[in-house]
Amino acid sequence: MRTFLIVGLVFFSAGCLAQAGKGIDVAAATELAKASGCYSCHATAEKVVGPAFIDVAAKYKDEKDAAAALAQSIQNGSKGKWGRIPMPAHPSLSAADIKTLSTWVLTVKP
Ligand code: HEC
Repeated sequence: MRTFLIVGLVFFSAGCLAQAGKGIDVAAATELAKASGCYSCHATAEKVVGPAFIDVAAKYKDEKDAAAALAQSIQNGSKGKWGRIPMPAHPSLSAADIKTLSTWVLTVKP
């Protein structure tokens, strides 16, 4: 029984590590984005009102402080970077959620 538990634990941890994109739980972050209304203006792979998340990830992939810059955009809103439509500010999101979302956006893949 004990061995069974330990083996189970090892597999469980390995699974968590494999999933963690840059220290976040990608599945949970995707759910957070859905719950936060991000998908009413964004989609993974197509431009809707705002840019596709894969395009955002591609644009900032080589920028060292991208997550911090995107956190600012999500929190305070953004305009003029992608087109003529601005993104409104998200004042009701917690700092922790904004950090998760800005880190997660950079991990979105097609
Ligand atoms: C009302 C529509 C709308 C909603 C809701 C929205 N966005 Fe946006 N988003 C936009 C638009 C439009 C842009 C392009 C803004 C620009 O050109 O600077 C954008 C841009 C972005 C960018 C790129 C910013 C940059 O600095 O390049 C990120 C990241 C982003 N959105 C993430 C999110 C996340 C995460 C959420 C959910 C909390 C969200 N958006 C909700 C419309 C929206």
